[in-house]
This record gives sequence, C-alpha cells and structure tokens, in this order.
Amino acid sequence: MVNIDKNRLPRHIAIIMDGNGRWAKQHAMGRIRGHRKGAQAVRTTVTACREIGIAYLTLFAFSSENWGRPGEEVDALMNLLADYLDREASTLQEREIRLAAIGDIDKLYPPVRHKLLDIMKLTERNDKMVLNLALSYGSRDEIVGAVRKMVADQQSGKLSVEDIDKDRLAAYLYTAAMPDPDLLIRTSGEYRISNFLLWQLAYTELYFTDVLWPDFKKSDLLAAIAVYQRRERRFGLTSEQISGK
Ligand code: FPP
Repeated sequence: MVNIDKNRLPRHIAIIMDGNGRWAKQHAMGRIRGHRKGAQAVRTTVTACREIGIAYLTLFAFSSENWGRPGEEVDALMNLLADYLDREASTLQEREIRLAAIGDIDKLYPPVRHKLLDIMKLTERNDKMVLNLALSYGSRDEIVGAVRKMVADQQSGKLSVEDIDKDRLAAYLYTAAMPDPDLLIRTSGEYRISNFLLWQLAYTELYFTDVLWPDFKKSDLLAAIAVYQRRERRFGLTSEQISGK
C-alpha cells in the first residue's frame, strides 16, 4: 500500500466517477451492470475516505446532462441511487457520516428525493465526514441560479451591489457551507471537468487516472492522495512565499 502523510490530507476530495459504460463493455455486459459495479466502488470509496480521515467527499453521481441518456439507463441509475440510499442509511449513521446533496434535487424521481431528504435529516448531526452527492448537478446551472437569487435579493433590498464579492457569490452556490475541493480525481482516462464545480475548482489539484470507476479501489485513492501530497499548492504566489524563505 502507498504511504500517505496523515497530517497533510486533502480536506475535501471530489470525484468524477467515469467509465462504468466502458467497464461493462470490456466485460461483455450491459451498461447498467457497469453502473451497479460502480455503486460498489462508491461503497468502497466512502469506507476508505472515512478510515483515512477525509472530511468531505463529493461524488458526481448524476449530471444535469445525464437526463438525456436512454430512458432505461436513467431509470436504472435512479433505482441504483434509491437502492444505495436504502442500504447505506444505517451504515452512514453508524459511522457518523453526514449525507449532503448538491444539484437540482427537485428533479430526482420522488422515491430517490424522499430517501435522500430523509437520510440527510437522519444524519444531520454527524460530524466525522460529509458525503456530498452531486445529483442532477450542472455547474453552469448552479452559477446561473446563484446570479438569479442575487438579483432577486438585490431587488428586494436584501443585497446591495457593493456587497457582491467572491465570498458573497460563493454563499449563493449549492456548496455554500463547504470548503472548496483540495483534490479532484477523474477516472477512466478522460481529461475534462465536464461542468463539475467550475467555480469551486479554481485552485484544486487535478488528478487523472486510467482506472475505470468500477475498478477504483482504496489503493487507487491512496495513490491519488500521495500525488497530491507531492504537489506544491501556490495559489498564485511564488514558491518562496509559500515556503516562507
Ligand atoms: C459515468 O460512467 C458514470 C455515471 C454517469 C453515473 C455514476 C453512477 C454510479 C457510480 C453508480 C450510482 C451512484 C451512487 C452514488 C450509488 P459512464 O456511464 O459515462 O461511463 P462511460 O463513459 O464508460 O460510458
């Protein structure tokens, strides 16, 4: 196993879980079997993050564009999510993990939405880790929604134009209560952000791996964290400024 420094963990890891379809193809199975295997990789990864001590884990589980996939695939993904929530509620509670969600939750199939809201309520006091599911999520929609709310608040006198700055805008995003991701992992050898957390990823370290999501294991997560720990995060400053020399 790869060694990581427990004192320099990323506080927030975000993952674009890609490659379920290709995994299924490689195994001569239908795409839905790939998603099912992908749901197992979600369980493994949540367990691993909790063991390692990651404070926030955000998973891109369903994008706003995914609604355009064939009807049976959308149905299967909604069923898988409902199934995951049913099976994992007690485990999340036992492990003191708080469930959160970002995205246009109202669009989810009602059983998924209800289970999600119930488990978010059940786990709201948990403080060992936040599992944040991005569902029906698109970053441009999120930013447009934030601008609309800001304009409405400005018109009703709750917000003045002079008060608008980076922090204020961030407070109107779905992620208002969360730190920005420190590390973004994308699986399956694709090098894209795909409309995920465009604002929040401004200074995030990006890590791409060829591993397909259903094959993603704790050792792959540790490898990503080890690479992250070898990077120097400068946030636009110089190396000397960062090291204090
Ligand atoms: C991308 O693979 C993956 C998705 C669109 C859905 C992700 C869903 C899961 C991992 C399972 C359910 C989630 C939870 C939280 C239980 P793809 O279908 O785009 O793969 P491809 O690019 O190889 O076709």
